Amino acid sequence: MTDPKTPAPKTFHVKSFGCQMNVYDGERMGEMLGAQGLTAADADSADLVVLNTCHIREKAAEKVYSDIGRLARRENGPRPMIAVAGCVAQAEGAEIHRRAPQVDIVVGPQAYHRLPDLVSRASAGGHALDTDMPAASKFDVLPRRARRQGPSAFLTVQEGCDKFCTYCVVPYTRGAEISRAWDQIVDEAKALADGGAREITLLGQNVNAWSDERGRGLHTLIETIALIPGIARIRYTTSHPNDMSDGLIAAHRDIDALMPFLHLPVQSGSDAILKAMNRSHSTASYLKIIDRVRAVRPDIAISGDFIVGFPGESDADFEATLQIVRDVDYAMAYSFKYSPRPGTPAADMDDQIAPGLMDERLQALQALLNEQQHRFNLASVGRTTEILIERDGKRPGQKLGKSPWLQSVIVENGPEAGSLLPVEIVSAAPNSVVGVPVSDRHASGGWHPAQNMARAG
Ligand code: 5AD
Ligand code: SF4
Repeated sequence: MTDPKTPAPKTFHVKSFGCQMNVYDGERMGEMLGAQGLTAADADSADLVVLNTCHIREKAAEKVYSDIGRLARRENGPRPMIAVAGCVAQAEGAEIHRRAPQVDIVVGPQAYHRLPDLVSRASAGGHALDTDMPAASKFDVLPRRARRQGPSAFLTVQEGCDKFCTYCVVPYTRGAEISRAWDQIVDEAKALADGGAREITLLGQNVNAWSDERGRGLHTLIETIALIPGIARIRYTTSHPNDMSDGLIAAHRDIDALMPFLHLPVQSGSDAILKAMNRSHSTASYLKIIDRVRAVRPDIAISGDFIVGFPGESDADFEATLQIVRDVDYAMAYSFKYSPRPGTPAADMDDQIAPGLMDERLQALQALLNEQQHRFNLASVGRTTEILIERDGKRPGQKLGKSPWLQSVIVENGPEAGSLLPVEIVSAAPNSVVGVPVSDRHASGGWHPAQNMARAG
């Protein structure tokens, strides 16, 4: 939109890729644009489209360019104003304008509070770019959360990373670790609860490194948020093994609202690879943490992230990864092929692994992880638990919710979104389980665990 007579946009659409923090940032950008008088619209009709991008792996980063091309060729009217936000914006900056001149605005994750101003600049003609990492936090100037919320809301409490794992772009795109101020977080949690949120997931690249100037840690924050009327459930993600404090582990025993779920990436089961990754923990120290968490909360569901094909990864290193997966027994996990990222130390390491071998390893790892997830789901059959209804299912009356262990639960004839419903889990599939409201169970008169076994197959 380099035409100086471009009208200011009246409608907007934000499309977020990648992690949950991008979802949060995308919501905040939407709220800000809404506060400026713009209204939300579909991607194929909005006057302004914000692509909130992810740079973590090459595939995610390249996706933005095909999206830009599609938007620029919009068939049903004039092309929209295009803004590239998020981590690709931060990593590539002005290079984006060179590669895709159709892009009007480039705005990094620490500067998106200035989006309305950038939109005005782009409307006046020309490109607008802001990839500053300002000392003044964007959180100080973002508007208060919009009132209406879904049942489950994200809340960023910590951002950035100082760990510098050798494969990872996050320390460069999100910057140094910062913790948001206590009052700001608690106020936002209250606003989310007022808006209808029943569950809050506290977000950070190293969320368990959150602390304030009084030395309070994440567990104290969780304890306080748990007291906010309306908040029934708290989760946090993503954690680094080295920041799992005693207090946070104890919180899994002491705070009822803290859900029995821990996403704790290990990345590899080989100490040599962990060293080359600069993870600064060992397989033994990781397993020790898992043991300690399970000692205080035996039913906790453990989740993780894995990278296969890191430079130099031998067959024995990969076998060690399979072994740690067997040792931990994950309820769910994410696994990725190593993707060399420009500017990271690992991209220049010798012994990059051939793509075919990476594919093989990823398949083997995912087969094991899928089997574990299915077994975890099967083991929950027969449990009575409370689920949070999040949305409608495919069939009339069907509802989808989440168990405390973050399983997707399907219920026929469930109550409206936001309800906490006691159910019995009666059958399990690889990616979901089926729940029956406990009230229906009683009504149908009696039940025997063996019935579930039969149904679960
Ligand atoms: N290649 C592949 N996976 C990566 N991750 C981070 N950087 C890379 C990379 N260069 C994975 C890690 C991390 C998750 C968010 O993404 O497993 O925990
Ligand atoms: Fe990336 Fe490592 Fe920081 Fe996680 S801890 S964001 S993997 S550098």
